Amino acid sequence: MMNSLYQRLAISVTFSFAILAYLFYWWSGSLAQHSQFQAEQKLHLNLAEHLAQDSPLLQDGVYDKPALKNLFHTLMVLGPAFEFYFLDPSGKILTYSAKPDKIKRQSVDLAPINRLIAQPESIPIFGDDPRNFDRKKIFSASPIYKGENLQGYLYVIIGGEIYDSIYATAKQDQRLMGHIAWIGGSFVLLLLLLLALFRGFTSPIRRLERDINAVRNANFDTEKVQLNQWQASGHNEVHQLGRHFVAMAEQINQQIGQLKRNDKIRRELLAHLSHDLRTPLAAMKGYVEILSLKNEKLSVEERQQYISTVMRNVEQLKLLIDQIFELAHLEDGQVSVNNEAFPIGELLHDILAKFALKAQSKSITLNVQPEFCQQAVFTDIAKLERILTNLIENALRHTPENGKITILVEPLDDKLKVSVVDTGTGIHQKDLAYIFDARYRASNAKGEKNQHAGLGLAISKRLSQLLNSDLSVKSELGHGSEFTLLLAQAR
Ligand SMILES: Nc1ncnc2c1ncn2[C@@H]1O[C@H](COP(=O)(O)OP(=O)(O)OP(=O)(O)O)[C@@H](O)[C@H]1O
Ligand SMILES: [Mg+2]
Repeated sequence: MMNSLYQRLAISVTFSFAILAYLFYWWSGSLAQHSQFQAEQKLHLNLAEHLAQDSPLLQDGVYDKPALKNLFHTLMVLGPAFEFYFLDPSGKILTYSAKPDKIKRQSVDLAPINRLIAQPESIPIFGDDPRNFDRKKIFSASPIYKGENLQGYLYVIIGGEIYDSIYATAKQDQRLMGHIAWIGGSFVLLLLLLLALFRGFTSPIRRLERDINAVRNANFDTEKVQLNQWQASGHNEVHQLGRHFVAMAEQINQQIGQLKRNDKIRRELLAHLSHDLRTPLAAMKGYVEILSLKNEKLSVEERQQYISTVMRNVEQLKLLIDQIFELAHLEDGQVSVNNEAFPIGELLHDILAKFALKAQSKSITLNVQPEFCQQAVFTDIAKLERILTNLIENALRHTPENGKITILVEPLDDKLKVSVVDTGTGIHQKDLAYIFDARYRASNAKGEKNQHAGLGLAISKRLSQLLNSDLSVKSELGHGSEFTLLLAQAR
């Protein structure tokens, strides 16, 4: 099956060329013949008339037919390309010089003769050939009068039988054949040239097709296949297509990679979270079992202690489940943001008040700088409070006694920079890139595995993205950390 674009092009071009060559051959032949007939008929247009006028036999009408036949014979010896006939006024052939079996027609049609006499400019005009029923020939004709009476016509066929047979052999002539061979050869050469050009033009399409197949077979893993180099500039559409295809395949490959990574992260997250949920649940189950089995034997203090342990685990479980829900809700993209303008100072002091006791118990100084900030921001107050709460909660946990936690407010162009700065343990450089990932706990948090799931910063990061104020971190191990938000100032 010939299916490729090049094969189809080649077949159509060869086919069209064959038709074209045939038409050209036929048309040039018929054009040459037409002009030859025209020229010859024009050249001999008055032949019959001159003969009629010059021959004493025809001048005053025809009386002596055998003499006329003799005259015709002599003339045909002198001019073998002509055949002479004398016709009566109805077109019937009366006199000719040939063997009778050669003459097939009894009469010829007078219409072309009259037309030639009346409109000699419309040559070539073809008349009946007396020697053949089907053939038409160019001719010269003249009416013969006796006084006023039409006696008949002198009808001269130009290019008679002898001429035709000589012309047919001349057509086989070597030189003529040479010319035809030249023209044919040029056609073949042109055809080959076109086929080569088509092959050149279609070769990038074949390369592109190979690229596409290779990428498809490699499941869009572009690193596994060696793709063609496509020209970076220029207007060649196939090269542009090739470039776009390679870019598209690379993007698909990247996205597939991203999807696989996301899938892996999700599966790991699920496994870790199940483990986090199971730990307090197992503890609760153990204590509840003891309570139910040994209820009578336990002292009031013991019972109270077990119950408060169960309560603590319930609280922890609730906190964890709330956080998981919150993160899932934030990630499904359906969260609405209710922005409003409000004074930042008030919110910060409210948050400080919430943590004052805890800070005091660790002898940590907790303050806002400048203490009375006047700026107003335009953002979602509940989400901002949630982020700051998470940050301060982390800071309090990772700042040793007598440390300092400051909420710094600083105008920056049309933004307001709000940072939570602590003098705590700081975060190791190798951890910094991951602390916003869900369930990531840095090396400084190993001791508190059970109480903290590592979801706080992931939630805060997602919330900050919703507020268009990306949360960033700077930290130095042993010196402290700084978490920063850029908020839109209210106008
Ligand atoms: N201010 C800080 N100083 C030092 N380390 C910090 C600070 N804030 C966060 N980290 C580190 O980043 C990790 C991730 O913090 P994140 O708030 O996400 O989790 P978490 O506080 O451990 O748990 P959760 O917030 O779910 O209770 C923490 O485990 C801690 O190691
Ligand atoms: Mg936290």
